[in-house]
Amino acid sequence: MVHYIGISDIERLVGDIGIGPFLSRLADTIETDYRRWDEFEKSARVASHSHDGVIELMPASDGTLYGFKYVNGHPRNTAQGLLTVMAFGMLAEVSTGCPLLLSELTVTTALRTAATSAMAARWLARPESRRMALIGNGAQSEFQAIAFHELVGVRELRLFDIDPAASAKVAQNLARVPALHNLQVHMCSSVREAVRGADIVTTVTADKRRAVILDETLVEPGMHLNAVGGDCPGKTELSRELLLRPDVRIVVEFEPQTRIEGELQQVPADHPVTALADVIRQRAQGRRSAQDITLFDSVGFALEDFSALRLLHEILNEQTGPVRELDLVPTLDDPKDLFGGTLGRSSRTRLRRVA
Ligand SMILES: NC(=O)c1ccc[n+]([C@@H]2O[C@H](COP(=O)([O-])OP(=O)(O)OC[C@H]3O[C@@H](n4cnc5c(N)ncnc54)[C@H](O)[C@@H]3O)[C@@H](O)[C@H]2O)c1
Repeated sequence: MVHYIGISDIERLVGDIGIGPFLSRLADTIETDYRRWDEFEKSARVASHSHDGVIELMPASDGTLYGFKYVNGHPRNTAQGLLTVMAFGMLAEVSTGCPLLLSELTVTTALRTAATSAMAARWLARPESRRMALIGNGAQSEFQAIAFHELVGVRELRLFDIDPAASAKVAQNLARVPALHNLQVHMCSSVREAVRGADIVTTVTADKRRAVILDETLVEPGMHLNAVGGDCPGKTELSRELLLRPDVRIVVEFEPQTRIEGELQQVPADHPVTALADVIRQRAQGRRSAQDITLFDSVGFALEDFSALRLLHEILNEQTGPVRELDLVPTLDDPKDLFGGTLGRSSRTRLRRVA
């Protein structure tokens, strides 16, 4: 039987552990897997682009486990009452190909993206960073806020969205989380107001175009930029001039993918970047001085989903309570007798439909 995690399961599982400790454990798992970078079979995701969005498959394997995620990105979906990003995925055993876990990954993607952002910021932002601007206050936003509060020590949040109701939703949701009582939340009426004096700027907007949320006139020396929303060809958030500033240090997840999908798509193919895996393994420096502007050009890499699936599978195995299971693949007395063990044993199996 294959273990199954649906939306009600992930709510219970994260609720039992606490979202702060869960994000912390997830960030550590992702960081551990980035340290094992050379053990992974890596590939850029397989993307199917259409007029309104993209559907992607994201595989990764460490030779023992294999994981993949199905995920979409449709920025206009919310106008129809649908999520912009929806996902599910699977973890399997490499030695046999047996599926181990089928899981929702919509909530988990928001958790893993926030955990990755905060983990990267721990390496790249100035250690004393306490004030973050959060631009784009949709589905991913609260997860980013909580991860930066818990893992980076952010104590002041400045919200901006072109939809003020979205910012109000974030403020309300965060006010309901008791452990966040020492997080000050301010609503801002422009990007400029939100960004002024911030240590960290997170951009997590959704728009299927070359948007300029942040330009070179808005950033200040020493800032860390966590650019999450530009993650597809033709879908960016930063100005080209900002990327080309000599004091901007760009850090990427998997360079071949980020060159196509990230903010990097706007600059020449030989523009210098540093791999997050090299920063974590201390083979390269992310931030060289307190004056540098560090930019995590996040697009989301399959390894992070692999880590999330690996962690969820680990947590299920630690649990003493019941785990949901699916009969996704047959269990047979004779593995060569697929017909006899499934359709052949059913009295409903006939050669032709009976009128
Ligand atoms: N890098 C990653 O790993 C990763 C993972 C998940 C999602 N994403 C991306 O993050 C983005 C946000 O995802 P979501 O699920 O929160 O989407 P969402 O549609 O729920 O929210 C997006 C928000 O951005 C706001 N927005 C749009 N244009 C804006 C602008 N010019 N200025 C300020 N706000 C603006 C919208 O009003 C909306 O509230 C998407 O682009 C998605 O593709 C990236």
